Amino acid sequence: MRSRRILVTGGCGFIGSNFIRLVRAERPDWEVVNLDKLTYAGRRENVEDLAGDPHYRFVHGDICDGGAVADAMSSCSMAVNFAAETHVDRSLLGAGHFIDTDIKGVLVLLEEARRVGLDRFVQISTDEVYGSIGHGSFTEDDVLNPRNPYAASKAGGDRLAYAYWATYGVPVIITRASNNYGPFQYPEKLIPLFVTNALRDLPLPLYGDGHNVRDWLHVEDHCRAVLFVLDQGAPGEVYNIGGGNERENIEITRAVLRLLGKAESLITPVADRVGHDRRYSLNCSKLNRLGWQTTMPFEAGLEATVRWYVDHEAWWRPIKDRDGAFRSYYEQQYGARLK
Ligand code: NAD
Ligand code: DAU
Repeated sequence: MRSRRILVTGGCGFIGSNFIRLVRAERPDWEVVNLDKLTYAGRRENVEDLAGDPHYRFVHGDICDGGAVADAMSSCSMAVNFAAETHVDRSLLGAGHFIDTDIKGVLVLLEEARRVGLDRFVQISTDEVYGSIGHGSFTEDDVLNPRNPYAASKAGGDRLAYAYWATYGVPVIITRASNNYGPFQYPEKLIPLFVTNALRDLPLPLYGDGHNVRDWLHVEDHCRAVLFVLDQGAPGEVYNIGGGNERENIEITRAVLRLLGKAESLITPVADRVGHDRRYSLNCSKLNRLGWQTTMPFEAGLEATVRWYVDHEAWWRPIKDRDGAFRSYYEQQYGARLK
C-alpha cells in the first residue's frame, strides 16, 4: 500500500496552517510534511501546537528550489499546494515574487510530482482567476479573465497544473475558492486589518465607495472542501469553493464595528485600489452535487473570528507593532491615503 504521507506547502500561512490542523484531527494516521519558506506571511507560531507531533515534519524551504521540494515530497503520495504570494495590494507594488512563487514554484512542484508519481496533487487556485462579474456566478467552465498581477500569476499556476494533467497525466485537481476568513489570517487582509485597527481606534481604510462585493468562506469550510476533493475529486477537474455569503465591504466593516462596540466614525474612505474588481461570485453546484456543503453560518463565523483576534492579541500585536517590514508596508500602502 502507498504511504499516507501528504506534502502541504505554505503550511505556516493562514489557510495552510488551518488545513494541517484539520488533517491531523480527521486523518490521524496520515503523516504531514509542511514545506514553507517563512515569508512575511508564514509564521511558525501558526503551527506551534504541532511541535513534537511524530506525524508532522517541518521543512524550511522554497517551492522554487528543486532540492527542497525533492526532500519534502520524498515518500509522499499526495500534495496540496497552498504556498503563494497572496496579497493583491502587494502585487500592485511589485509582481516579481508573485511570478516566481505562484507560477515558477508551481512548475517545480509539478515536475517533482511527475517524477515521484504522486497519487494526487491539489493546486489551490482562487476565484480571482475569473475576474469580476456584474450579475450571476462563474462556473468552472467560464473563461479566465484575471485582472491584477496576483490573479494573473495564480491563473498561470492554475493552467500549468492543468497542463501537467493533460500532457503527462499527473493527477492534478484544481480548486478555486472565494475570500477566506477565520483565525490566523495575516493582518493585511480586510477582516483582520479592520478588526485589529478598530481594537485600537485606528482608522479603517475602506477603498473606493465600499460597495465592492466579496463572497466570504470560513477557513474551516474551505479546508474541509480541500480534504473532500482530495478524497472525492477527479483528476483533471476544477472545483469552485464558495461560501455563499456575498457582502459589500461596507457591510463587513459595519458588522466588525458592531461586534466590537466601536463607532462608525472609524470608517475612513480612501483612494481606491487600482483595477479593483467589483464583484466575485462562484457557482458551486459541481462540488455540491458531489456532496460538499458549507457548515458555518456567516454571522456566527464572523463573530467567532472577531472574538479570536480579541483573544489573540499576543499573536497579532508583535506583527503590527514590532515587525518593521509590516510597518513600512503599512506606511507605503496607507500613509498618503490616510493623510
Ligand atoms: P498566506 O499569505 O497566509 O500564506 C502563504 C504561505 O505560503 C506562507 O506561509 C508563506 O511563507 C508561504 N510561501 C510563500 N512563498 C513561498 C515559497 N516560495 N515557498 C514556500 N512557501 C512559500 O496565504 P493564504 O491566505 O493562506 O492562502 C493560501 C493559498 O490559498 C494561496 O495559494 C492563495 O492564493 C489561496 N487562496 C487564498 C484565499 C484567501 O482568501 N486567503 C482565497 C482563495 C485562494
Ligand atoms: O477572492 C479570493 C482572494 O481573496 C484570494 O485569492 C486572495 O489571496 C485574498 O487576499 C483575497 O483577495 P481580496 O483582494 O479580495 O482580499 P482583501 O482582504 O485584500 O480585500 C477584500 C476587499 O476589501 C477588497 O474589495 C478590497 C477591500 N479592502 C481591502 C483592504 C486590505 C479595503 O477596502 N481596504 C483595505 O485596507
